[in-house]
Amino acid sequence: MAESTSLFDVVSVFFEIIVLIVKFWITTFVSIYKIFTAEERSVEGDIVLITGAGHGIGKEMAIQYSALGATIVCWDINEHLNLDTVNLIKSKGRKAYGYTVDVTNREKVLETGAKVLKEVGDVTILINNAGIMPQHQLLKHTENEIKKIFEINVLAHFWMFQAFLPKMIENNKGHIVALSSMAGILGSRNLVPYCGSKFAVRGIQEALLEELRADSNGKSKIKLTTIYPYAIGTGLFQDFKIRFPKLMPVLKPEEAAAAIISAQRKGMEEASIPRELLHTNKIFRLFPSPAARLVGDFLNTYVESDRK
Ligand SMILES: NC(=O)c1ccc[n+]([C@@H]2O[C@H](COP(=O)([O-])OP(=O)(O)OC[C@H]3O[C@@H](n4cnc5c(N)ncnc54)[C@H](O)[C@@H]3O)[C@@H](O)[C@H]2O)c1
Repeated sequence: MAESTSLFDVVSVFFEIIVLIVKFWITTFVSIYKIFTAEERSVEGDIVLITGAGHGIGKEMAIQYSALGATIVCWDINEHLNLDTVNLIKSKGRKAYGYTVDVTNREKVLETGAKVLKEVGDVTILINNAGIMPQHQLLKHTENEIKKIFEINVLAHFWMFQAFLPKMIENNKGHIVALSSMAGILGSRNLVPYCGSKFAVRGIQEALLEELRADSNGKSKIKLTTIYPYAIGTGLFQDFKIRFPKLMPVLKPEEAAAAIISAQRKGMEEASIPRELLHTNKIFRLFPSPAARLVGDFLNTYVESDRK
């Protein structure tokens, strides 16, 4: 009896593996097909909360989402810049609300989060965008600087989840977009703590997606998108080096914002800016690191230290 049961087990696992292989390839082809054909869903009526909406990519996303008919909730530590974004959107007859928040202050995030849910409504698209990027050698980073990088670039994401994820889970609706970076995929000199923080964002997003899937038996409709920009001209970094600048130019914040919004509307799990970088990196990762590094050395791209 025991033998026939184990034979049954072996046969059933064998069939499971066959089904898995078939599903694996179908899903692979469908996913690749979707990269090129996925349609952008409407965001009209959505409530989009953007951290770091006062400047750079965050500001551009706020403007572009509002033009698509979404209500924008702008959060920034800089009251003056944040108000500028809100007033700009309002001057075009669109809806925007501004809150001055330091996203590293958990109590303030939770308190303001509750205010937003009451005053504006349920946030349906949360964009964890605020970030800083000090650029110098590891041993020249101060203790405070390293802590600050992780408080803003990483820990703040958790406080934002604690403020807004419960409602998204209750409604089984929502989209969380996180700004990682190509520095969250590839290590880079003068950016050791920053790279660590952006690698962390990638891990957090991936783990959260798994948890939402598992806790809902695969029924969660909450989407996650992680973005890996390369070099965007917002003033975040200085003295950017690349051997072939025409091949990979520094992009405008407007272009980055449009690419992020498009990836979110298409429901993509991850996207780099420019788009090809993520795929190219995946291919190079198949090779031994010393060989892949040769290509990096050839392209010679990095940010110079701001401490001489
Ligand atoms: N610019 C790039 O080349 C680039 C590349 C890769 C990734 N990124 C990431 O994109 C995101 C946006 O970058 P950017 O270039 O637009 O930056 P930016 O400096 O132009 O704007 C960042 C905004 O965040 C706000 N902010 C900073 N600390 C805050 C805090 N504690 N609480 C609330 N708001 C705070 C600032 O006031 C500012 O308005 C960052 O996470 C950055 O790491 C940027």
